[in-house]
Amino acid sequence: MILSQISYLDCVAFLVFLAPQLLIHVGIIRTVSWLSGALPSLLLQVFVIPYQFIQERYMTPYERRSPFVQRATVFQDIVIRCVRYAFAFMPAWLGRVFFSKGVSLPFLRFRMLRHGIVTSPLRWHEIDRRGVRGIWIVHSQLEQPDVIVYYCHGGGFSMGSSYFYMEFLLAWVSLLREAGFRNPALFALEYTLVPDATYPTQLQETLAGYEYVLSIAQDSSRICVGGDSAGATLMLSFLLYITDHPELRHQRPGLAIMISPWVTIVSRNNRNTSSDFLSSNSLEVYGRQYLGSKVPADDPLVSPGNCKDLTKWRDASPEKGWLFLFGSEEVLGPETRRLISLLKSANVQVESEEEPGGIHAWPVASLYLGETKDERLHGLRAIVKTTRNLLN
Ligand SMILES: *[C@@H]1O[C@H](CO)[C@@H](O)[C@H](O)[C@H]1NC(C)=O
Repeated sequence: MILSQISYLDCVAFLVFLAPQLLIHVGIIRTVSWLSGALPSLLLQVFVIPYQFIQERYMTPYERRSPFVQRATVFQDIVIRCVRYAFAFMPAWLGRVFFSKGVSLPFLRFRMLRHGIVTSPLRWHEIDRRGVRGIWIVHSQLEQPDVIVYYCHGGGFSMGSSYFYMEFLLAWVSLLREAGFRNPALFALEYTLVPDATYPTQLQETLAGYEYVLSIAQDSSRICVGGDSAGATLMLSFLLYITDHPELRHQRPGLAIMISPWVTIVSRNNRNTSSDFLSSNSLEVYGRQYLGSKVPADDPLVSPGNCKDLTKWRDASPEKGWLFLFGSEEVLGPETRRLISLLKSANVQVESEEEPGGIHAWPVASLYLGETKDERLHGLRAIVKTTRNLLN
């Protein structure tokens, strides 16, 4: 099931689903008191965002526009401007409602209905056992999967849910099937968000999730671990963790897919760019909340980019290697490039696709915001192609 681009009608529907959830989860008093405090700035944005949009898109010569604006459609440009504003100025407790189950699932149902689909051809169900929560998607319940993707979503550790990624995840499994896998499956982990818990809770949950996936997989080399942004951080931490744990090291996954990974939580190399919607300041705030008060920011298990030990990275590498997808304009780009070259000097199999003009998590975001089917599926097709080539 691959739906079309998000429309303006979808955006309205999203807000309609969001409003009651805000009231339930944040409460009317907190919502209204934040709103009243933020109102002057919000109202200002009603003018500033369209002004900057017109200024940068129509009054600036093409070559002086930011690389993202050069390639973005009007719709993509507007959405990313709003996201940039939200990321810089909205508190996480508010942002977290946006991508929660209560908003994402009705939104998906709405989009499916708009396409005339009542039940998804691929079924999913929720897993909640022995401390592991998540979503399980499989082509056929009755057969053993021949590949299992184990996925962690992004959202700065404080936001996001697998439900918000459902369209992306369903499309991933469909494409794996199209590419010739007999019975592809995917497990998306629901980990505890900050501030309900900080590191190492999320890493422990990632480990427990892997044990769960192992209990289903007949062969760990058929497992492909993956994540975007903070979800990719968790996978990197997990892979470093198993280097010191022989029982897991002998059951390491076959492949790792890193989409716009947040390699180093606090780094001077994470710098604002003219295109990306992330800001270095907000990233650091989110990052430090994840670290909590007891863990040093340079501990490689919490912030994997701090590990410079080639032997460790060789041991951490999945059997068939890595695939990195990221954008040339990312705030997180410099640290990602550093890790890729480190892995290459450790003689590990690494493929990477750096998208020109690309911003954070575009392989995920473009599934929703892409204009054409090719643009929407670009990232997933690259992932599936590599999976096909390496896991066979
Ligand atoms: C980065 O961008 C944000 C807005 O997106 C801004 O508030 C912040 O001051 C910028 N940081 C630096 C170091 O330029």
